[in-house]
Amino acid sequence: MRKPMYAMPPDAARRLLADAPAVHLCTTTPDGAPVFRTLNGAVCDDTIAFHGAPVGEKSLTLGRPCVVAWDETIAQIPSYFVDPERACPATTFYRSVQVHGVLTEVTDPARKARLMAALMAARQPEGGHVPITADHPLYRKALEGILVFEVPLADITGKAKLGQNRTPAQLVRLMEHLWRRGDPGDLRAIELVRAHNPEVPTPPFLAAPAGVTLRCLPAPELAVQAGALLATEYWNTEMSPAAIAAAHLGSPAWVAAVDAHGALVGTARAITDRSKRAWVYDVCVAPALRGGGLGKRLVTLLLDHPAVRAVRTVWLATRDAQGLYARYGFVDCATVPPPPYTRTEMVLRR
Ligand SMILES: CC(C)(COP(=O)(O)OP(=O)(O)OC[C@H]1O[C@@H](n2cnc3c(N)ncnc32)[C@H](O)[C@@H]1OP(=O)(O)O)[C@@H](O)C(=O)NCCC(=O)NCCS
Repeated sequence: MRKPMYAMPPDAARRLLADAPAVHLCTTTPDGAPVFRTLNGAVCDDTIAFHGAPVGEKSLTLGRPCVVAWDETIAQIPSYFVDPERACPATTFYRSVQVHGVLTEVTDPARKARLMAALMAARQPEGGHVPITADHPLYRKALEGILVFEVPLADITGKAKLGQNRTPAQLVRLMEHLWRRGDPGDLRAIELVRAHNPEVPTPPFLAAPAGVTLRCLPAPELAVQAGALLATEYWNTEMSPAAIAAAHLGSPAWVAAVDAHGALVGTARAITDRSKRAWVYDVCVAPALRGGGLGKRLVTLLLDHPAVRAVRTVWLATRDAQGLYARYGFVDCATVPPPPYTRTEMVLRR
């Protein structure tokens, strides 16, 4: 790689390849004709494995050098995110992975079965089928009849182009722009830019009390911790921690705070249509950190979230933290004039 600053550690490159929904396989036939295919691949042991018909173009490429590749676009970065005048800084943030190797047929039935089982585990993790083994009557003949081929992962490189060539000041400005734009993928881009540029100062919208980091797009694993933190709160007595965690994963706006070890210490979420209505739920700070300003930072971030900030009416209900929300302009609904028509508020309880 020409610029080592973009290099991903091999285990991260391997994860990117394993998580890819499909990969590109580039090789040649014996007479030199180029071959380019998009394939399902299974990363298993130290190899990526594919399957196909025993005759046809793919079978001609066995024993030939190849490249297996995948990339994902993280965000388009317009030039003005970095420079108010020049067009040159326009770029794309992306992550990519490449494996160079030789296509080799797998002939051992047990290994074929193991690789195809790995493919099913990746594409159909919920199961719902008889496990693939070489001697099972459902699979024995099928395994004999398919071509399984692999490329070892010995020569794997990953690239993460996430602003490492920018100054800290440029990256802070760039993250502010991503937060303001708020397009799909922009919040993930902010999280990835921070992870890949740890020396960059915290952008003002993510400012947090000492020892705490705010997340504008919390990792899905944190939802379980949110479920545990919130399960004992008075409004959640009918909800299991798993249901609370699922609600966080299903919320279009969720912000969180983590401590130096990455443990969740605060959370706030909203459901929203991005335009007419949003509803704030499950605002909570770990008891040991209460009174230090974290609750205000979480609510500020949530109300400024791209999915919430343009919403006309934001609702919430709370037993006793009205003072916290009053500072943002929330008022008691009883003081708001009713609409000029009669109506019945209805609810479907399940
Ligand atoms: C409410 C909660 C999120 C506040 O978090 P926090 O980190 O302690 O709050 P902060 O330190 O940022 O400050 C909270 C501000 O709101 C005010 N406030 C009003 N009612 C409050 C209440 N019941 N609890 C905490 N703060 C309250 C505080 O006085 C403070 O104002 P100040 O800065 O003028 O002194 C936290 O106490 C908590 O998790 N409580 C249990 C869960 C809960 O009740 N959530 C709200 C229901 S939606």
